[in-house]
Amino acid sequence: MTSTGKAIAHPNIALAKYWGKRPYGKNLPAVPSLSITLAGMATHTTVTLDDALTEDALSLDGEATTGRPLTRVTEMLDRVHTGAGPRPRARVASHNDFPTAAGLASSASAFAALAVAANAALDAGRTVAELSDLARQVSASSGRSLFGGFVVLPAGEEGRAQLPAEPLAPADHWDLRLVVAVTTEGKKAVGSTEGMIRTAETSPLYQGWLDGAPPIFDTIRGAVLDRDLDRLGPAVEQSALAMHATAMAADPGLLYWNGVTLEVLHAVRRLRASGTAAYFTIDAGPHVKVLCRASDCPKVVVALAQVRGVQRTIEARPGGGARLVEATEDAT
Ligand code: DP6
Repeated sequence: MTSTGKAIAHPNIALAKYWGKRPYGKNLPAVPSLSITLAGMATHTTVTLDDALTEDALSLDGEATTGRPLTRVTEMLDRVHTGAGPRPRARVASHNDFPTAAGLASSASAFAALAVAANAALDAGRTVAELSDLARQVSASSGRSLFGGFVVLPAGEEGRAQLPAEPLAPADHWDLRLVVAVTTEGKKAVGSTEGMIRTAETSPLYQGWLDGAPPIFDTIRGAVLDRDLDRLGPAVEQSALAMHATAMAADPGLLYWNGVTLEVLHAVRRLRASGTAAYFTIDAGPHVKVLCRASDCPKVVVALAQVRGVQRTIEARPGGGARLVEATEDAT
């Protein structure tokens, strides 16, 4: 039996945001989303089966970790397991080669890498689509990191339990850049899962978000396929602003931005007014990600770095999906 699997996966940034879950369980998204999987940054995960263990063990960036992260890892391993009988316990070691506080959700790449590594270690024989569906059940955005390039995660439908993400176009379809403006080194206050549940339960704008997100998604999908940045950009900004407006109207209101966030949004609009096609998006945190053409990237980096309070910028481009790096057989 294969006992060790090593995999890597990249973070992804949604151009059309997922925010909110269907009310019938299984972590099904309430709206369709579309993301770019990013090259250059990765989570590296090793899963080693160990019969001597009575429960799974997790090490994150070299530190033994328990609590919710370990529970989610155990959940993922249980889901991937296909063999008869009890699942062997595993030692899971994961590290990010990018700073976790950089505003690039590390959970997406983490669960995608874990799914692929676990599939090899457990010899589960699952397809990429199955792994995407399983990762999506643990954290929806991670289902998208199984695939490279431009990726769609449809909204969930009642009676349909399985929902993998779907590749829309490969990384080389369009040489775009995403520049991350890091606005603080601190951690975010309210996680996405909790934030979107609170929004659904208490925001009077939530129904408007549910009605408005699908047409915005359609525009984004069409503009990506046509490589039309002038059509894509405004819809990307609208998706992010609609998500944040809905979350801000929750009780208590979710305020993911800081003052620098807002300054960066204005800087992006000024760039555009002066003729550079640059468009922002913001996730459940204070950092801003700016979409632009590769040729405009140096100009965008300079403009963002000049905004007072911006700590640093990170450039990213479309990259590949999660992949297995190594699988080894147990000698015993
Ligand atoms: C703002 O995928 O982290 O980044 O399914 O509850 O784990 P769970 O949520 P998660 O939410 C991501 C929200 C977002 C938008 C997006 O990536 O589409």
